[in-house]
Amino acid sequence: MTDSSEANSQAVTPAAAEGRAAPSDEQEHWWTKWLVLIFVVTLLAGILFGYDQGVIAGALNGMTKEFDLSSTMKEVITSWVTLGALFGALVAGMLADRLGRRTAILLAAALFTAGALLESLAPDTAVLVVGRLVVGFGVGVASVAAPLYAAETAPTHLRGRFVSSYQLAITIGIFVAYVVDWALTNSDSWRVMLGVSAVPAVLLLIAAWPLRDTPRWYMKAGRRDDAREALLRIRDADQVENDLDGIQSALDKGEEASWKEVFGKDLRKPLSIAIGLAVFQQFTGINAIIYYANEIFADAGFNTPQEQAAATTWSIGAVNVVATFIAIAYIDRFGRKPLLQAGLVGMGLSLTVVGISFLFLDDSSTHASDAGIVTLVALVVFIASFAFSLGPVTWTVINEVFPNRVRGRAVSVATAVNWLSAWVVSQFFLTLVDLIGPSATFWLFATFSAIAFVWIWLRVPETKGKSLEEIEAMLLPSEQQPEGS
Ligand code: BGC
Repeated sequence: MTDSSEANSQAVTPAAAEGRAAPSDEQEHWWTKWLVLIFVVTLLAGILFGYDQGVIAGALNGMTKEFDLSSTMKEVITSWVTLGALFGALVAGMLADRLGRRTAILLAAALFTAGALLESLAPDTAVLVVGRLVVGFGVGVASVAAPLYAAETAPTHLRGRFVSSYQLAITIGIFVAYVVDWALTNSDSWRVMLGVSAVPAVLLLIAAWPLRDTPRWYMKAGRRDDAREALLRIRDADQVENDLDGIQSALDKGEEASWKEVFGKDLRKPLSIAIGLAVFQQFTGINAIIYYANEIFADAGFNTPQEQAAATTWSIGAVNVVATFIAIAYIDRFGRKPLLQAGLVGMGLSLTVVGISFLFLDDSSTHASDAGIVTLVALVVFIASFAFSLGPVTWTVINEVFPNRVRGRAVSVATAVNWLSAWVVSQFFLTLVDLIGPSATFWLFATFSAIAFVWIWLRVPETKGKSLEEIEAMLLPSEQQPEGS
């Protein structure tokens, strides 16, 4: 990396470290204000993602009573959010590239609001299903646009934290959904459970409204003045022109990317990294546990619905939130790879133990047995290990590895693959358990953890502390590198 590309980079390591005059207090205050708002938008988008994913487990009972749902209808109502999200994620890349990241977030918020109202006021199952699809579509759009916005706006030395805070919000959303489900399980308040998500959706609309788009998107759209203004809100004034030149030189390599280019030879490396992480994040079993925790705890000897709900809420929901803080604290310090590898060791070992303890579970037991307790502890280790590694780091890396010109579309492909993998796992987990038994199913997840460990070791580069343009230079074939690298 030459000096000129260093200067061109959008790195905003603290001014002093770069030998520049430190920004005035007033400037710092100004940045902080906008960065906090961007942070809040990222958080709200993640909370909605998590809540909408988690809430259905508790809502299903009441719905089934009111509409006399068949099993097929129950499956449709549960899983079509994921399918909606899959399509939302695919379209989101194009929307985020054409209309901007901010507009895509606003659209997602509007869809959430409309979908939540449709669901909670639904007079019949048809409207309910449409509501689920609309919400899913919004979840998909937000799952692309929000981390993209965060990655493109955050100062380099905070980027990992910004994107991980999105994951933190997902975990908070899941936790809140578990608590709401737990609190309302015995009533039939499914309309309240689903309607509640309109509140953060409206807050997201309000919070995202005053934001500008990302400087990188404005530059891509040829709007340098807008890009400058957006950067001035969050950067030191004397650095802005350098940053703009850096973004421009990365963009100068060509026209707006086509879909063909997203799958072309030049992007093979970043695309395989992003898709690999997206698949491994799901095939190591996280959502089997998030969705079916109650059933797993029932098999492990937690007999009453209350016991199961409590075990799920605290040992899965709360641990998931708490352990995500480890990633936020260390992702920009230790780097992405060490967190991923440490997490995968914990996940692989704990899944192996869950598999073993299922061999010793006694179906007829009326209380949580020793094997049941071992299962619980191993699941806590699994969730904690996921929450500081594959959970947040996947989203961070997916949003860092692509060149500016193609980032929107390429991120949406990786995100859609993540949703597809989530759908596959949640759809077939119970079937797999019936077919090969729980022990072998958990060992299969453990095997995927081991493969992921080796693959990450060999294939995933460290992106900590590098500007997005530096990462672009590192991952493109040498003849494609931006000038000055
Ligand atoms: C995954 C979700 C998962 C969640 C659990 C996210 O990173 O993409 O599928 O439910 O983590 O915390």
